[in-house]
Amino acid sequence: MNILLLGSGGREHALAWTISASPLTARLICAPGNAGIAQVAECVALDITDHAAVIAFCKANKVDFVVVGPEAPLVAGIVDDLEAAGIKTFGPSKLAARLEGSKGFTKDLCRANHIPTAAYERFKSPADARDYARKMGAPIVVKADGLAAGKGVVVAETTEEALDAIDMIFGGGVGAAGSEVVIEEFLDGEEASFFALCDGTTAIALASAQDHKRVGDGDKGPNTGGMGAYSPAPVMTDEIVRRTMNEIVQPTIQAMAAMGSPYKGVLFAGLMITKKGPQLIEYNCRFGDPECQVLMLRLMSDLVPALLAARDGVLKDFDLRWYRNATLTVVMAANGYPGSYEKGSVIEGLADAAAIEHVEIFHAGTKTQDGKIVATGGRVLNVCGTGDTIREAQSRAYSAVDKIKWPGGFCRRDIGWRAIARAKN
Ligand code: AMP
Ligand code: GLY
Repeated sequence: MNILLLGSGGREHALAWTISASPLTARLICAPGNAGIAQVAECVALDITDHAAVIAFCKANKVDFVVVGPEAPLVAGIVDDLEAAGIKTFGPSKLAARLEGSKGFTKDLCRANHIPTAAYERFKSPADARDYARKMGAPIVVKADGLAAGKGVVVAETTEEALDAIDMIFGGGVGAAGSEVVIEEFLDGEEASFFALCDGTTAIALASAQDHKRVGDGDKGPNTGGMGAYSPAPVMTDEIVRRTMNEIVQPTIQAMAAMGSPYKGVLFAGLMITKKGPQLIEYNCRFGDPECQVLMLRLMSDLVPALLAARDGVLKDFDLRWYRNATLTVVMAANGYPGSYEKGSVIEGLADAAAIEHVEIFHAGTKTQDGKIVATGGRVLNVCGTGDTIREAQSRAYSAVDKIKWPGGFCRRDIGWRAIARAKN
C-alpha cells in the first residue's frame, strides 16, 4: 500500500524506518520529512496545516493510509478531515485529541472516572488562581490549559514562583494556550512514559520507556522536549504496567467511548510512579519523541498491520512482539537549545558513527545542503544504541556520538543513569 507519514522529527524518522521495512509498504512518502527520512522515504514539501492540500495530495498519489506523527495536526482535526474525504488515517479525532489539547478536559475526565492523578482546580481568572496558590502553598504545579510546546508547565518550589507563573500564563506568555490555568498538587516519584495502542475500545500496552526532560546532566536545568530515552523502563514492573492499564488507560478509553469520542491511535500517558502507585501527569495523543525511537528499535512485529487494526477497530486479540534487548537514544541538540539557537551548522562523521554495530541514527532537525547535512532545528539527531542491557546500549550510543563532528551541537553524557544505578543495586 501507499503510505503518507506526516511530520519531520526523530519520532517520524523512527516511524519511517519501521514502516519502510514492512512488506505491506509499496511506497512511503513523508511530509515534510528531514534529511534522514529521505534515506527511507520520499520527502515532499507539503504544508500539513493545509488539510485540503493534504487531501488533494493523497488523492493524486493514491495514498491508502496516512500516519500522523505530531500532536498539532491531530488537535487541529486532520484525522477527521482525511477520514471525511475517504482516506484511512491513523490517529485520534479532534475530539479524542482533547486528551492532549486541553489539560482541564483530561483532569475533569480523571475526576469523573476516579483515575489517579494530582488533585487540581481550573481557573479562568488570575485573582482566583492566585488565591488558590496562596492557600495551597508550595511545592505546587501551574499549567496553561492548552498546547504550549512544553513551556506551559511550571513546577513551583515557592509560592512566589507559582504566582509569577500564573501572571506569566494569564499575561499571554504562552499565547492562547494560557486563557485558562490548571493548578495541581506536586507529585513525588519517578516519571515514566507509557504507551498504549488503542482502537476505540481495546488498548494494548506497548513496551515501556523513560525519557530525560531536563537539558543538563543530572536532570538539571530547563525542561525540553526530551534529551534522551531508553526502553525498557525498569520502574515499569509488570505490576505497575497492570495497574496503569486497569486504573488509568482502560477507564480513559471507556470514558472517551461513552462520551461519543472514542480514542483511536497511540495514547501516551506521562506517569509519576509514586509510593501509592502510578498517577497520571498528562496525556499525549501520539508517540513520544524520543521515546518512539527506542520503542521502534525493539519492535519485532510489523507495525503497519497494528496501525491499520487500530484504525479499523479490530485490535482485540492482536499481539505485538518485542525484542528482549535494551535500547537507548542520546539526543544531540543545537547549542542554545531549549533557548534560542543557530541554524545551518554543518554535521560530519555521521557515516562513521552509523557504521558502528548495534547503532542506529535517527534525524530530527536536519536537511541536506550542497551535499552536506546541516542542522535546522533545536533537537537535531537521535543517536541510538542497542544491547543486552541499558548500560551496553548506552556505551554503544556514546561511542557513536563521539564519532560525530558537530561543534554547533551538544548532548547530555548521562542518558540512562537512573536505570543503570538501579541495575547496580
Ligand atoms: P507536562 O507537560 O504536564 O507533562 O509537565 C511537564 C513536566 O512537569 C512533567 O514531565 C513533570 O516532570 C512535571 N510535572 C507536571 N505535573 C507535575 C505534578 N503534578 N507533580 C510533579 N511534577 C509535575
Ligand atoms: N518526550 C516527551 C514527549 O514526546 O512529549
